[in-house]
Amino acid sequence: GKSLVVAIDGPSGSGKSSVSREVARRLRAAYLDTGAMYRAVTLHCVATGVDLHDGAAVEAAARDIELFISTSPDLESVTIAGDDVTAAIREPEVSSAVSAVATTMGARAELIRRQRALIAGAGHRIVAEGRDITTVVAPDAEVRILLTASEEARLRRRGDQLGGTQTDAQLKQQVLDRDARDSAVVNFHQAADGVVTLDSSDLDFEQTVSAVLDVVRIVA
Ligand code: C5P
Repeated sequence: GKSLVVAIDGPSGSGKSSVSREVARRLRAAYLDTGAMYRAVTLHCVATGVDLHDGAAVEAAARDIELFISTSPDLESVTIAGDDVTAAIREPEVSSAVSAVATTMGARAELIRRQRALIAGAGHRIVAEGRDITTVVAPDAEVRILLTASEEARLRRRGDQLGGTQTDAQLKQQVLDRDARDSAVVNFHQAADGVVTLDSSDLDFEQTVSAVLDVVRIVA
């Protein structure tokens, strides 16, 4: 069939990742979680003693990292030089440090290059999600969606994801701080021209998946 790239951006806790993965399954498409790539570079820097404030060193790490990310929606797998880091990149230490990589423009350029190659190599269908997919990585995607949710809904979902290990106040501060730092380099709060905004605040998981699939059917 003809090529179909579904680009989905949004803030943390918008439900983006789980929704995008399920949409990919239903479309029998590949799936790319670009946030996992920023997380992997962050973990690699921490593990190898790269100073996250040293832009040139972070850029070199992004260039040199032997990073593999599964693009099957049914297999969540990230490896660095063959080591499985799928779970490690979700640790709170990585979440709180990742914006340092995301705001290093040289590292972004390298990850964007890799993401475009993964999208091009995925065959004819892929759902790719992150913060700058609709605007920078794949502005020519057939379908571009900004998945938003109210602050309240986002904090609630993040809390559920982390299983209540942190206090509400800590959690709220971490999510808001990270989005504020990320916003310095990417605008994922307002939809760019031609990008469909989908507010999931009052939708459950299944309703959000259906809403995205509806947009795909209308636009593609
Ligand atoms: O989506 P997730 O919360 O896992 O993303 C982790 C981090 O990666 C974000 O907080 C942001 O700093 C960075 N990111 C980015 N651009 C993307 C995807 C993620 O800057 N396309």
